Amino acid sequence: MCGIVGAIAGRDVVPVLVEGLKRLEYRGYDSAGLAVIDDGGQVRRVRRTGRVAEMEAAARAEGLAATLGIGHTRWATHGGVTEPNAHPHISHGVALVHNGIIENHEAQRERLTALGYAFESQTDTEVIAHLIHHHLGRGLDLLGALQATTRELEGAYALAAISRDAPDRMVCARMGCPLLIGLGEGENFIASDVSAIVQATRRVIFLEEGDTAEVTREAVRVFDAEGTQTVRREHLSDVSLASLELGPHRHFMQKEIHEQPRALGDTLEAIIDAAGFGPALFGAEAAEVFDGVTGVQILACGTSYYAGLVARYWIEAIADLPCSVEIASEYRYRRAVANPDHLVVTISQSGETLDTMEALKYAKSLGHARTLSICNVPESAIPRASRLVFYTRAGAEIGVASTKAFTTQLVGLFALAATLAKGRGRLTAEDEAAYVESLRHLPGSVQHALNLEPQIAGWAERFASRQHALFLGRGVHYPIALEGALKLKEISYVHAEAYPAGELKHGPLALVDADMPVVVIAPKDSLLEKVKSNMQEVRARGGELFVFTDADSRFGPSEGVHVIRTPRHVGVLSPIVHTIPVQLLAYHTALARGTDVDKPRNLAKSVTVE
Ligand code: F6R
Repeated sequence: MCGIVGAIAGRDVVPVLVEGLKRLEYRGYDSAGLAVIDDGGQVRRVRRTGRVAEMEAAARAEGLAATLGIGHTRWATHGGVTEPNAHPHISHGVALVHNGIIENHEAQRERLTALGYAFESQTDTEVIAHLIHHHLGRGLDLLGALQATTRELEGAYALAAISRDAPDRMVCARMGCPLLIGLGEGENFIASDVSAIVQATRRVIFLEEGDTAEVTREAVRVFDAEGTQTVRREHLSDVSLASLELGPHRHFMQKEIHEQPRALGDTLEAIIDAAGFGPALFGAEAAEVFDGVTGVQILACGTSYYAGLVARYWIEAIADLPCSVEIASEYRYRRAVANPDHLVVTISQSGETLDTMEALKYAKSLGHARTLSICNVPESAIPRASRLVFYTRAGAEIGVASTKAFTTQLVGLFALAATLAKGRGRLTAEDEAAYVESLRHLPGSVQHALNLEPQIAGWAERFASRQHALFLGRGVHYPIALEGALKLKEISYVHAEAYPAGELKHGPLALVDADMPVVVIAPKDSLLEKVKSNMQEVRARGGELFVFTDADSRFGPSEGVHVIRTPRHVGVLSPIVHTIPVQLLAYHTALARGTDVDKPRNLAKSVTVE
């Protein structure tokens, strides 16, 4: 969703801001803009709907150059996709960018209108620019005016502001949306995401909830929610530039699908090195947190929620613990019954999905103190709010559709199931050794599945001309059917639904005819014979089957039944391997339909609003 970048330097910062905004494009946006204080001390602004490149061309045409500036990519919430609604917003020489939503903006708008302020946009953001100007008029300096403003705001925000009356500084604030400060040599930066500034510096300070800060070329002063000056730890970001670049690939999604053997290998490293499972994988406090756990509650959204659904099978079967999985946006608004002996596990690639964060806060308010986050972004909000964390080491995921994050989340969740089982005396030494051995082979098995790409691309041609598709799976592979349907609909816009195959005759079978392709995840597990019967039900209604099975199933093609074999059955880790073909099917179908694979319409990478 929205992105922020700011810079103050001894050089022209416009190229830095533009490059930063380009690196934030992956998050999803519909307009972009930047504002600078030029050499003449004036605020100059360029905004455009559409791509950052269009805004960049406009900035170049206007000859914009400055040593201080802020930029923004906007994903519309309040007010349509128009230039007046794009950020930065300006009030009498104060320029401001904002991520998040101001809930009391209507009341503030009325108050500011009564004070004589005229509004140019329909956004909730514009009130903040006017409020800062209003407080400057009371004799406060820029930071003081920002702090006075944040005390009057309700909602979530990351803010950055500059003023023509203070051309040697930027100020910023964080509440509910991520914001960090990048430290350079004689130059400093502000960003909502480290990828926006990694080309300039890797030294970063993550602001905490309620923090405000003042940033000059030489110094950074951070104040906590009470307004007391404080010190926040400096981190060295390990986001690699290579992970932010496309290289020889056509799309980030394709690159990230193919990175999975590496991503899984990196995520597995600690388990393989230790030759086993144990609380140490989840943090220093894990032994204490896991001790006496009697159940697991998983909370997540979208693809991460599907990872949770797979985990339920593992946690119940391997650790013998009850496990519920719930969509975070549902959990946070219902009267849930908490059991303090249950472990609450949030799963999030970005670590900043608002619904998941709020569900975690709600769980904690109900008395859940045992919290674990499975996350791909170090130092993001959700792991910081959790006692334990397992970082997936997928590397930056740029494609909006999650791929390598999902399979690496599954590794973390499998390790959790095995660790809980071990702690409860439910894991024999032989089983542990066998699981570690299967994990060791996992990157290779995934590579074999990736090698099926040409065959899968052949199928995709046929899906590209369809309006609908059905995905079926049973047991631990049912969530993979859900994931396959989600991937197909979000990037190719082919309507797809997933069902547990046994549910077919309870309704969806009515949809099946010769025009309905039915994808079946059918590995050789204990449910294969049941799945075969479900496939007969489809064939008997003229439905065309596209079956992903593994080499051991001895299941062959026949009329109306197309089969692609993944490598030999990999036991409990089979859902990870079977994810690869459904990702590739979605990717190649989208390719054949010519959609914007990495930036599907209406979607954002990181959903930081409700
Ligand atoms: C689908 C997808 C989304 C995310 C969801 C949660 O491909 O990417 O469904 O999985 O928005 O995001 P995170 O995992 O960042 O919390």
